[in-house]
Amino acid sequence: MSIPKPEKRIAEFEKMAYGMFIHWGVYSQLGQGEWIKNMKGIPDEEYDKLLETFTAKDFDADKIACLAREAGMKYITLTTRHHDGFSLYDTKELGDYNSLHTPAGRDLVREFTDACRRHGIVPFFYHTTLDWHNPDFNGNFDAYLEYLRRSVEILCTNYGKIGGFWFDGNWSRPDADWKLDELYGTIRRYQPDAMIINNTGLSARGATGHPEIDSVTFEQGLPHPIDREGAPKYVSGEMCFTLNDHWAYGQNDYNYKSPADLIKTLCRCRKAGANLLLNIGPDGDGGVPEIMSGILKVIGRWIEQTGGAIYDGKPCGIAGAGEDFGLKTEDGRVYLFFFDLPIVGNESVTVDTSKVGPRAFAGVHDKVRAVRWLDNGRELAFAQDADTGLLGIQPTGYPYGSNMVVRVAELLF
Ligand code: GLC
Repeated sequence: MSIPKPEKRIAEFEKMAYGMFIHWGVYSQLGQGEWIKNMKGIPDEEYDKLLETFTAKDFDADKIACLAREAGMKYITLTTRHHDGFSLYDTKELGDYNSLHTPAGRDLVREFTDACRRHGIVPFFYHTTLDWHNPDFNGNFDAYLEYLRRSVEILCTNYGKIGGFWFDGNWSRPDADWKLDELYGTIRRYQPDAMIINNTGLSARGATGHPEIDSVTFEQGLPHPIDREGAPKYVSGEMCFTLNDHWAYGQNDYNYKSPADLIKTLCRCRKAGANLLLNIGPDGDGGVPEIMSGILKVIGRWIEQTGGAIYDGKPCGIAGAGEDFGLKTEDGRVYLFFFDLPIVGNESVTVDTSKVGPRAFAGVHDKVRAVRWLDNGRELAFAQDADTGLLGIQPTGYPYGSNMVVRVAELLF
């Protein structure tokens, strides 16, 4: 048995490591999440009034792409169409239920893809497969599937090279024939380098499915390492995660995660070899609430100070105690991640020095010459038994004035 080699697009996707998810549509004006139509049973006539007030006046794709860059994110996955069936792109002969036919009068997907390219961000398209608007979804399913396929074809042929598609909704009809050969075949024909991802939802995290699927999803859950022994294809993993408890704007949802927790989450994803797709929900006008951009910028600073160790490193069998772990890059660099080190000040301000004790890592067989913190370049005392692969390190904790939450050291060989 052996582990298959990742195809180029999949290897590149893994190296992007960290992306921004954006849930935004006419529903954002209600500030109660993207499921509100369904949850409240809002009839079409009433829901469609949201199109009349959709101006997108604060939607600034350049600003969002810049935010992603500053946050250390390499790609953005935008809801081009969500379950309500409303599209942020020109659906051409398929109909008018899109942003061009609202007061906004703009092709927002075009603004998005153009801005991404200007700022070195790879654009991805979230696209629903479930549809609450198109009557064919429950009436003539075959006609609906052709509508869906054609929608995807439009997205494949009008917006330049894209990073991939992120489908969501097949779980709504688990027994249906979704004609995936045709849908995915359309993507392979026009965008051979695009990733194909299909969200398997909360109940089937990490499940594969169709052979064209390039990455599994872990919706709102910690990814587990993927067992690729003897697998027909190398498939990557991605965990999508909300900043609070909603994907689309939740005006009264104050339950934001802390940057510290999110830094740990990002590290835990990389420990399992998976990407993190962290979500923001712009408000009804398309502006990004300050708390969201603020949190992302803090994480971006952390990434910058850790020298980008999260991008290239892959799981390599180096494990520490507790949550500590190691990653190795293709060119042989090894990074060790230390969780929960204390701040070392003096008796008056130090909270807890008990965790400054030595940390052990297993699986380090190459002879280590030095161990160095990435954030300040200081060297650490260590002892290694290269035969057993055990490495003991004396971490110094955080100098008073800092707390990186997870601190990263590089091994020099
Ligand atoms: C779920 C929800 C959807 C959301 C998605 C993101 O599938 O139906 O609203 O877009 O998760 O992972």
